[in-house]
Amino acid sequence: MSIDLSDLAARIKPTPLAQCTLDVRGRAVDENYMKNAIFITGASSGIGKALSLRLAGNGVALGLLSRGRDASLEEVAALCREKGAEVFAYAADVSDAVATAAAAQAFLDRVGRIDVVVANAGVSAVDQDDEANWLDISKANMDVNFYGVINTIVPFIDTLKRQKHGSLAIISSISALRATHNSGPYSASKAAVNLWSEGLRLRLRPFKVSVTTLCVGFVDTAMTRSNKFWMPGLISADKAAALIDSKIRRKVRLTVLPWTSGGIWAIFHQMPGRLYDLVIDTAKKRQQ
Ligand SMILES: NC(=O)c1ccc[n+]([C@@H]2O[C@H](COP(=O)([O-])OP(=O)(O)OC[C@H]3O[C@@H](n4cnc5c(N)ncnc54)[C@H](OP(=O)(O)O)[C@@H]3O)[C@@H](O)[C@H]2O)c1
Repeated sequence: MSIDLSDLAARIKPTPLAQCTLDVRGRAVDENYMKNAIFITGASSGIGKALSLRLAGNGVALGLLSRGRDASLEEVAALCREKGAEVFAYAADVSDAVATAAAAQAFLDRVGRIDVVVANAGVSAVDQDDEANWLDISKANMDVNFYGVINTIVPFIDTLKRQKHGSLAIISSISALRATHNSGPYSASKAAVNLWSEGLRLRLRPFKVSVTTLCVGFVDTAMTRSNKFWMPGLISADKAAALIDSKIRRKVRLTVLPWTSGGIWAIFHQMPGRLYDLVIDTAKKRQQ
């Protein structure tokens, strides 16, 4: 689908060049990041909610999107407004390209610029040791976790290129590095998005637009609360939001976080298949 943003050209305010300063460890940080227009999907819950609340503040325009199936998106929007942000909430399904593009364009129309897009909305559809519904499960994961990311980011690309400034963040998973018995469809959707975002990063480099792919480990959210298995290095959504925030500001390309679960999966990623099978088979038997 091609999205015509050409009529926005006249309305887009001039964007100040990214001003870089150094953080306490002497690493480059984009100062504009906290001040401007930020669009976050999956903002009604978990990591997206924590990130929205973290980034809300005076001078920030926030575009928050989720399906809006209950009042939670409006609740997050109200909390962000209390913190001084100008907030626009959009009820849309990221697997619907037209609805997502309409929300993105509505935000651009209102704010006139975009500084950070966080493609965070995701689902973790898994099977219960039953292959009967694998097609549906695989499709559900790909529709949201892969095509949903593309649907979120594509509508902003023309504006970002014109601005020659901005950050794109894609919330992937350590599951992209290695699959387990039941995570094949979810892992595949996250692995696909990792490579898609790498291609995007290379394309946008000449336009000074950064792309950060975050392979997130276990976070205590609605997505993981029903998990029966051991989740090493489980962190709170607030902690995850703080780590994600820091990585986007530093324009990190691809990262795993936190270091505990991220580190374990980074080792799994390098492990020979025969050894990995033994480790995961043993873990599954212990869990039964
Ligand atoms: N929790 C973890 O351990 C973990 C680990 C690695 C990666 N992640 C990733 O982190 C991201 C956030 O997950 P979370 O843990 O914060 O889960 P969560 O609490 O379940 O939040 C998911 C968010 O995505 C929204 N969403 C789901 N499907 C959507 C759709 N089709 N269109 C628009 N919005 C949709 C949900 O809102 P509505 O239901 O209202 O639409 C909700 O705001 C996901 O991409 C997930 O894969 C999570």
